[in-house]
This record gives sequence, structure tokens and C-alpha cells, in this order.
Amino acid sequence: MNLVIELVYTIIVALIRAYKLIELGIIKLISGPLRKEIIRRFEKLAIVFHVSTNLNSEIPAEREARILEKSKYSSILHVKINTSSICSRVPNEGLLAVAEEYINWGWEFMGTDDQMVQLFCRVLDSKMYQQYYHPINRFLNYLEFQAFNLQTPQRAFQVAEKHYDMGNAIFESFLDPAMQYSCGYWSKADNLNDSQLHKLELIAKKLDLKPGMRVLDMGCGWGTLCKYLAQNHGVECVGITISKEGANYAQKVCKGLKTQFRVQDYRDVDEKFDRIVSIECIEHLGPHNYRTFFEDDGIFLIQIFGVNHMGFPLVDSLMHKYIFPNISFPYYLDVAKSIEALFIIEDWHSFGQDFAKTANAWRHNFQDNWTSKLSEKYGEKFFRLFNLYFVMTEASCKSRKVQLWQLVLSKDGLRREYRAAR
Ligand SMILES: C[S@@+](CC[C@H](N)C(=O)[O-])C[C@H]1O[C@@H](n2cnc3c(N)ncnc32)[C@H](O)[C@@H]1O
Repeated sequence: MNLVIELVYTIIVALIRAYKLIELGIIKLISGPLRKEIIRRFEKLAIVFHVSTNLNSEIPAEREARILEKSKYSSILHVKINTSSICSRVPNEGLLAVAEEYINWGWEFMGTDDQMVQLFCRVLDSKMYQQYYHPINRFLNYLEFQAFNLQTPQRAFQVAEKHYDMGNAIFESFLDPAMQYSCGYWSKADNLNDSQLHKLELIAKKLDLKPGMRVLDMGCGWGTLCKYLAQNHGVECVGITISKEGANYAQKVCKGLKTQFRVQDYRDVDEKFDRIVSIECIEHLGPHNYRTFFEDDGIFLIQIFGVNHMGFPLVDSLMHKYIFPNISFPYYLDVAKSIEALFIIEDWHSFGQDFAKTANAWRHNFQDNWTSKLSEKYGEKFFRLFNLYFVMTEASCKSRKVQLWQLVLSKDGLRREYRAAR
């Protein structure tokens, strides 16, 4: 964004914050009846709140039976509320408030993390989140995250500063040993490592590679795909990333192979390649930039963590503030529109449930490998934030609100038979 637009954007965000503060004050005035209404709605989902000052995790059997009778669920989930402000903060700030209160122990889940996934699935299935995304909040969300191009070349590196360059030790703690930060392919796998290896081969087959071809990997992470393709398919790979740590790591593990890694924004690549691949990078590029992303040649394979329904928000302030600045989950029609007249869609493969399994495995790895060294460096709040991030990713895929696609695109349409691998 140029300076003037950046200034306008900053003023708009400040006005949104001011409006939200006033709204919070109004919500606080009606917090009594609001609390009753929230409790009633959650009880319909068999979710019961316990206030910590009066904590009694055992609810009378008849009340439990009454709650279950009125709900479609067969078990009750219990949530402990440690701060009363949560009832006004959540209607005011939605998921951001849910997460901040969780990180700061404003609420706790009284059960396992797998049951906490169920908690979020119930809320997502009920579409309760739509009450937060009423027309005014939808408009404010649009103004803050979508109206402006938040993914300009100048801003492209912000997500590396916040996330990708925070230290490889964190990523090593939860990813598979080959360091793939994207959904695995679980059709014939029953563990994370196999699912990730199968994904690499699936991509190679779909790309229809021949030895000697030049392949570009846009958003190459820690260089895993480039390494795999160069080692097993005799191709030459160029990987680009905005993360210095990722590029350094990739250079080390690919020593001696025909690979090259560059720290650069995707818009700065101006060479021709036989094949282009991009695995879960488009989420960082934003709808204003899809067209420039797709102005390429060759067979193009893209993996997307995307959204199928307009009703589900493409951006939320939680992800934006704490995990991935400037993220925007691609809406399928925006992707299709940006491809129009540039590419023929040869294949559109959907396997969203596999991301639930991937996120579940990441959470288990993260918990098992959370050492005192990591804890000292990153702290307990970070642990709770990342745990919640994995829980919510799993729930949003399990409840089918977010999808995972692989698309194979060709410039003018392939003139030979093409059957994408599965
Ligand atoms: C979720 S990670 C996926 C990494 C890798 N493709 C994988 O499957 O493990 C997203 C990647 O996109 C890269 N990325 C984000 N924005 C980018 C940009 N503007 N230009 C180039 N790469 C970008 C990040 O550095 C990161 O490597």
C-alpha cells in the first residue's frame, strides 16, 4: 500500500476500534439478560457453563437429563468460566475474544482436547457464529481485512516476521520430520509422516514430470517438496519463500541437489518454468492479488485451504492478530474468477477431512514435544494459543466449514488425455 492509502487504512481501523469500544459499553449494560440468553443457547448444544466462584462440576442428574432431552447431542460438555467479562466480550469481538479469554484463563474446558474439538464443532454446526457476523460486523470485517490490499509486496514479509521466522524449533516440534506445513494426503495413510510422503508423490504424479524439467515451488516452506522432486524425479527446482529461516534450512537439507532457494515475494519471479506448484501459499496473497499470482505458464498445481460458502468469514481477527498477519482464506469463486481466461481447470480434488487429521496430529506432536526449553522461550500463553489454533483448525475442517483443494491448471488445456492421480 502506498503511504496515503496506508494512512487512510490506519484511520479506518482506529475508527472501527472506537466503535467497538462504544459497542462494548452498550453490551455491558444488558449483560444480565445477555448472559441468560447465551447460557440458554449453549445448553441447546449440550454445553454447560460453570462459574468458577461457585464451581460444581457435578450438575444434578435430572438437569443433565433435561438438557440432553432438548439437544441432539448425547453427552454434555462442560466449560469453566473464570471471568464474567467474557459474556460481553464475545458478542463484541467474536472469536478473538474467545481465544484471548482462553489464552488468559478467562475460560477453561473441563475435558480432553479431543472433546474441545467437539465443543467447537457443535458451535460451528449450529452456525451460532452467524449471529456475530451480522451485517454491521460483516461490513466492518470487510473494511478491515478485505477492502484494502493488505498483501502488497511491502507487507508480504510481515507474516514471516510474526510467524515463519519465529524459530524452526517450534515447527520441528509439531510438523512431520520432513517439515511440511500443509495438509497431508490420508487416503492410504494412517499417520502424519506417511500422509505427508504420500502427498509429495501425489503432487509429483499430478505434475506429470519428466527428468530435466524446471519446476517452481511458490511458498516452498522448508524446501521439502523441491528436495523430493529433485531427488526422486530428476527435475531442477527453484523454491521461493518470504522466510529467511525457511530458505536457510532448505539450502542445508538440499545440498548437492539441483535446487535453488530464494527469499523473495512471488511477484518478483520473472522466469519461465515447465511446472509451477504452490502448496498453501495463496492464503497469504489475498484476493486483490490472485490474478498476478496466476499469470504464469506450464502446468500449475495449487493446494488451497479455502472456503465454499459466503456465510463463513474468509478472515478472522484472531488469525490476523496472533498467527498469520494479512491471511485471507480463498473463496472458491474468487479463485475461479482469477483463473478465467488464463487457465483451463484440468482437475479439482477436494480432501478437506484430511486437514482435520493433519491438525490433530500436529496438536499431539506439539503437546508431546513441548519441552522445558520451548516453554522457557515461548511461555505458557503461546502454548495455549497454538493448542487452540490446532483445535480450531481441526474443528473447522471436521464441521466442513473450511475445505482443502488441489487444483491442476494448464495454460491452454492439455491436448492429450490427462487423468489426475488419486
Ligand atoms: C503454510 S506455508 C506452506 C509451505 C510449504 N508449501 C509446505 O507445504 O510445507 C506457506 C509458505 O508460503 C510462503 N509465502 C507466504 N507469502 C509469500 C509471498 N508473498 N511470496 C512467496 N512466498 C510466500 C511462506 O514463506 C511459506 O513458506
